[in-house]
Amino acid sequence: MFDAIETANQPISSNNSALFSTNPDRKLNEPDRNSQSVSGITLVTGGSGFIGTHLIDTLIHRGENVTVIDNLSTSNTQYLHPDATLINKDICDPGIPDLIKKLNPKAIYHLAAQASVAVSAREPLIDVNINVNGTLNLLEPIRELPHRPRFIYFSTGGAIYGDLEPSALPAREAIEAKPLSTYGASKLAVENYLRVYGHLYDLNYTIVRPANVYGPRQNPHGEAGVIAIFTQAMLEGRQITIFGDGNDQRDYIYVSDFIDGVLTLADSNLPGPYNIGTGYGISVNKIHDILSEFISNAKPAQYGPPRPGDIPKIWLDVTSAENDLGWQANTSFQDGISKTVEWFRQITP
Ligand SMILES: NC(=O)c1ccc[n+]([C@@H]2O[C@H](COP(=O)([O-])OP(=O)(O)OC[C@H]3O[C@@H](n4cnc5c(N)ncnc54)[C@H](O)[C@@H]3O)[C@@H](O)[C@H]2O)c1
Repeated sequence: MFDAIETANQPISSNNSALFSTNPDRKLNEPDRNSQSVSGITLVTGGSGFIGTHLIDTLIHRGENVTVIDNLSTSNTQYLHPDATLINKDICDPGIPDLIKKLNPKAIYHLAAQASVAVSAREPLIDVNINVNGTLNLLEPIRELPHRPRFIYFSTGGAIYGDLEPSALPAREAIEAKPLSTYGASKLAVENYLRVYGHLYDLNYTIVRPANVYGPRQNPHGEAGVIAIFTQAMLEGRQITIFGDGNDQRDYIYVSDFIDGVLTLADSNLPGPYNIGTGYGISVNKIHDILSEFISNAKPAQYGPPRPGDIPKIWLDVTSAENDLGWQANTSFQDGISKTVEWFRQITP
């Protein structure tokens, strides 16, 4: 079952002792019956993706021993830190429970997901299988670990609250979540499972409700991540399509601010949920205008029909994170866009 372990840059043998930092001599397939202690491993599912690679850079900088479970379905190993150990596996794989028990991690950042609202609308069964069943596949073995790892769950801030009246914005965590996409419904289902596992099995969890995260390394070829998609297209001189009238608004947070918020929350003992965003909304038209300031000769946008499941306006109230965690985002939108464009410029031929 460990045939798919590799580091970010090269395959490594299946008796890689780095998987068990507490007892490097133990063979990989033998459970450590003499030790009930945690391994010291920080596990990141979906760690090869956009948010995951940034998170791992910071974790490794902090001296953490990071293992990644990722099936590379929407990413590759290009930006994965070379000191991270990659296990190329689907979180729905039947071998996952045994793997979690053997890794015995001290913390799990759970990012692996079907992360597109548009895909969830087309393929709701795939969405629920990865996002709900895949998560339960990780949670079940945790019940049997003597030391419960801290489980940091990446839910959604943009898709969990549903379509709110303007008076309800910015969205507070305390309001009833009424998602209008199957993606939002699957994320909310897992939030509820976490509460149940916390109640029944002492799971030490926390829930992050991210705003729209943007910055270097975001995939410009997917269906989510409007800033990456627009930036790449405009740098290549292609015309962009805005779905709807361009007045839809979202809360866009620069990736380094977001990682800072996540780690502050992970280091706390609080279950959340916590909105991690900026607290204000930016329209799609505004994004295009600001990008046009940085990218000369960009073509005017064309407009297409709105996409099913997209919420017209959502931005997040972040006063809970400010008051309870002492955290707030500090990169202005202009600065974040500037850094993002600069990065995409370097990788665009
Ligand atoms: N980027 C955002 O703005 C944003 C906003 C809200 C929530 N989130 C959540 O944050 C998490 C990470 O998002 P991201 O933007 O980095 O996405 P991403 O697509 O870049 O990364 C997701 C990673 O999960 C992996 N993956 C997908 N399905 C898998 C499976 N079945 N088994 C193993 N690995 C699998 C992919 O290969 C990829 O590396 C997701 O859970 C997403 O729903 C992201």
